[in-house]
Amino acid sequence: MCSVLFCDLVGFTPFSESRDPEAVRELLSEYFVLARTVIERYGGLVEKFIGDAVMAVWGAPVAAEGDAERAVRAGLDLVAAVAELGAGAGVPGLAARCGVVTGEVAVTVGVGGEGMAGDTVNTAARLQTAAQPGSVLVDGATQRLAERGVGFTDAGQHALKGKAEPVHLWRPTRVLSGVGGVKRLDGLEAPLTGRDAELRTVRELFHASAERRVPRLVLVSGPAGVGKSRLGWELDKYVDGLAEQVWWHQGRCLSYGDGVAFWALAEIVRQRLSIAEEDPADVAAGKLREGLDRYISDPEERMYVGTRLGRLLGVAVFDDSGGTLAQAELFAGWRLFFERLAAAAPAALLIEDAQYADAGLLDFLDYLVDWVRDLPIYVLVFARPELGQARPGFGTGRNRITLTLDPLDAASMDELVDALVSGMPPEARAKITAQAQGIPLFAVETVRALIDRDIVHPVEGAYRLVGDIGQLAVPDSLHALLAARLDALDRQSRQLVSDAAVLGTTFPAEALVAVSGQDETAVRSALAELVRREVFSVSADPLSPEIGSYQFAQQMLRQVAYETLSRRDRKARHLKVAAHLRTAFRGDGEEVSDVIARHYLDALEAVPDDPDAAEIRRQAVAGLIRAAERAGRTPPWPSPSTPRPPSSPRQIRSTDREQLPRCGNKPQTPRSPMPTSPRRSSTPAKPTVASSSAAIPGRPPAPRPSQAKRCAAGAITPTRGKSSPPPWRCCEPTPTPIPSAP
Ligand SMILES: Nc1ncnc2c1ncn2[C@@H]1O[C@H](COP(=O)(O)OP(=O)(O)OP(=O)(O)O)[C@@H](O)[C@H]1O
Ligand SMILES: [Mg+2]
Repeated sequence: MCSVLFCDLVGFTPFSESRDPEAVRELLSEYFVLARTVIERYGGLVEKFIGDAVMAVWGAPVAAEGDAERAVRAGLDLVAAVAELGAGAGVPGLAARCGVVTGEVAVTVGVGGEGMAGDTVNTAARLQTAAQPGSVLVDGATQRLAERGVGFTDAGQHALKGKAEPVHLWRPTRVLSGVGGVKRLDGLEAPLTGRDAELRTVRELFHASAERRVPRLVLVSGPAGVGKSRLGWELDKYVDGLAEQVWWHQGRCLSYGDGVAFWALAEIVRQRLSIAEEDPADVAAGKLREGLDRYISDPEERMYVGTRLGRLLGVAVFDDSGGTLAQAELFAGWRLFFERLAAAAPAALLIEDAQYADAGLLDFLDYLVDWVRDLPIYVLVFARPELGQARPGFGTGRNRITLTLDPLDAASMDELVDALVSGMPPEARAKITAQAQGIPLFAVETVRALIDRDIVHPVEGAYRLVGDIGQLAVPDSLHALLAARLDALDRQSRQLVSDAAVLGTTFPAEALVAVSGQDETAVRSALAELVRREVFSVSADPLSPEIGSYQFAQQMLRQVAYETLSRRDRKARHLKVAAHLRTAFRGDGEEVSDVIARHYLDALEAVPDDPDAAEIRRQAVAGLIRAAERAGRTPPWPSPSTPRPPSSPRQIRSTDREQLPRCGNKPQTPRSPMPTSPRRSSTPAKPTVASSSAAIPGRPPAPRPSQAKRCAAGAITPTRGKSSPPPWRCCEPTPTPIPSAP
């Protein structure tokens, strides 16, 4: 079974008749290169070019799962890329149209232009002629195979030349998820509008890093709700559809607790190693060892990297006795881990919410990009503009690019609202967009408020206006809008949201039960309702160590929920969380004493002049001292704002997850595990022990692996392919200083 794509140019003949033949040839050859690039990125084989048409096949010589979907994705990309090519070349009417058909094909690959035959091939060519310029049409078989990951609209019956019966066709609209529906969102999500250029930029920078084997850091900066995470999600889906294998990782900086150093990096490493929350230390250490065996062939390197990753994850391997390891030593080990991954396939590291990143994490990212040589490591950092104040210059310099996401233009905002709710009256739409000032989150949250009021309903997969919108009062700021959404919740849910806001960005249900003081069944059913209302989402990404925990659907929502708490309520809740942590964790919260201290400090800051201020201060200081003492003693790290008791049962049982409606803002469908290959690789990671640290405990620098010989200055050996000498051996100074610039 193969999928055949047939793509033709529209508007090319008038162009070729009116222009100089040289210009025509040039445009055509650009188109051929473009078509080949797009098709091959999706794993298709270009069968032949016929005039200005191209025919490609998926599933030959070897069939793979997802072939039909990749062919459709390639078609969508190709028509978009040709439109861009035309606009760039001053031929605005230039467009492509594609047909994709799946069926039996007789293929003799390599027989110049004559290699494919059969009804499927002919139908693909016919089908393409039925497509509108700039669009793709597919047959029923392709639609059925691709529909989990791609959205389609019914294009009706079409009479095709050579076919006795009319054929039912479908038009793909957009990519909804990873291949096969993995991580598909069933909540409120409009098609991406107004960000074509930005998406193309981050994609092409990824390809440039992969093809030229250079590290690259891209900082995407923009205000809250402007669409940074959305851009990341689009890239995630795109990369999943590529034929090339990619090690994809994603980590988030936590907004709560200054002591959560390197949290996003630890999350990334746990993803790669499938280290789960309920894994006791010995199991986690076992998984770390297994991962090292899998990714690093040299035993001494394994030990070197293992000890240093162990420090990051809070597990001891290779008899790590917990002595001092300088930051430079740790960085060298962590870097080597990513280098070994990148030697096998491009590695992508996406860091979310970097405005909350600790200085150490940003130092490491800079270090990684400065010191990696000849290897494809793509670091994508999303941050609000505050990062620029905290860390001026981050995202500039060699192998770095900063991309600023500005608010969307008016036309894109209109398009966004229309896409969110079909039938939105123009006056209501204008009110929303006038207040939104180009921030998509504003539009999304306004629509969510209408859903809460039952004026907008999901009908057959799309949101529709079903009630009278009346005089739509649109709050004048995003903050007011979010606050109004929270106010509309019933008292119990509202309280839970406030408790959760104090717990942190991500929290397990158990912690919320403990802190809220409400009955567990009631909390769980309220949580399910809050997920349905898209206030919270449940992390179900099988690659995330946070799977099963709850999180705010939007960072801004948590911020608003926290800010709208009175100072006295904040204080009371911080004290409750501190008390909960002290009982939930062994030894009066020994492992998480820095987080406990942080909650005491926040309680103190909320109401500094209460009579119990001195006592709270004393508790905070005691917590900080314990944290410092502990840091000096042991390698493992304690948890962030909402740590889980190490011995707690699985935070969300699978049955709980099944009861939750699939409408969160986060991935809901696990991707199939294929443990040894990049990208679709890891076995599903389970929830992980949340961790944090004020500092990395140190000990004298461990001896480096004996192979880590220093080469003559500047003697950097190119490392293409796995067999070349590893670059770090040649370019790494001793004893691994962290350069400000190489
Ligand atoms: N260009 C766009 N087209 C359609 N929807 C969009 C677009 N950009 C953002 N959205 C939607 O708007 C909402 C907010 O976007 P997103 O979460 O990406 O913002 P953000 O910049 O990451 O915010 P924060 O700084 O709070 O993390 C999401 O629901 C997202 O799907
Ligand atoms: Mg975001």
